[in-house]
Amino acid sequence: MKIDGRWRRAIEESDDRASIVILDQTRLPYETHWLRLATLDEVAAAIREMRVRGAPLIGVTAAYGVAIALAAGVPLDRAIELLAATRPTAVNLRWALDQMRAQLAAGARAFEAAATIATDEVARSEAIGTHGLPLIRRRAGSPVRVLTHCNAGWLATVDWGTALAPIYKAHEAGIAVHVWVDETRPRNQGLLTAWELAQHGVPHTLIADNAGGHLMQRGEVDLCIVGTDRTTRDGDVCNKIGTYLKALAAHDCGVPFYVAVPSTSIDWRCTDWRTIPIEERAGDEVRSIAGRGGTMQITDGPVANPAFDVTPRRLVTGLVTERGVVAASREALASLFPDLAEPAS
Ligand code: MRU
Repeated sequence: MKIDGRWRRAIEESDDRASIVILDQTRLPYETHWLRLATLDEVAAAIREMRVRGAPLIGVTAAYGVAIALAAGVPLDRAIELLAATRPTAVNLRWALDQMRAQLAAGARAFEAAATIATDEVARSEAIGTHGLPLIRRRAGSPVRVLTHCNAGWLATVDWGTALAPIYKAHEAGIAVHVWVDETRPRNQGLLTAWELAQHGVPHTLIADNAGGHLMQRGEVDLCIVGTDRTTRDGDVCNKIGTYLKALAAHDCGVPFYVAVPSTSIDWRCTDWRTIPIEERAGDEVRSIAGRGGTMQITDGPVANPAFDVTPRRLVTGLVTERGVVAASREALASLFPDLAEPAS
């Protein structure tokens, strides 16, 4: 997608084909800084410190991490173990590492296998955009007002995004769209969403996290679209903390609540959403606020910082996948992905 009018991806291979270059998301939206990652430890740290973030992008970065590790002679098991431990919630990480192991066992070259994962992820994102576009088009208000939470755009994937892909497709198709962007404390991923949308000229307004329910009650939101870090095979959706509250408000106000889900974010093995590991991040993220001038501490009191929550499927209007839009249910997902759905254990 575009940065200062130039087409880039959130992760790119270096010219040497032995390292990768990422857009350092901890420095956005104030600075566009590209960072080269040339060792396994650098890749693992970049994921852990959220220099790269967003479920699909975490997976793709880890796949490249395996390739970088193998090129340096690090044993595969050690690389996979280190990368798998970087962040617990996004199932894309496990998926990409499993995929790399399988591809390598089948004789694939590591960098090529990682590049294929990246390319396929872009195709999934674009297909989500295509399938999600009618959800926006059919509401053709002027503009269609969409609320999103966190950042599920191209920064969180590789290109296009998941929740933002239908918005980009609508914008390209000349449909007037306006996006309400939740700030998403404490990491403020909403600033990333606002930055992305601004780069593409998509009208948007940043709102405090608590404003969404009020806007829905006043009839100022036509639909919500969010991403996911792990959706169970039953259609329960784990996503950035605060998503559940938005879904509750949407349900109460009769606002459709869609979740954009690439198949790489579906955990076919998860039979109970209560077992999803919810990342608990450092308390200092809540104790402080980061901005252009640096970080300012706002309290030194006790804090808690759960980074994700689960929206039960009964609150989800539909799942927008790369193969189409389906109900959030085991049957619907299994019929759309018969090749991936695992039998109940
Ligand atoms: O903690 P983050 O910023 O990695 O969390 C990202 C999200 O929760 C996104 O909404 C999710 O990964 C979907 S991204 C396509």
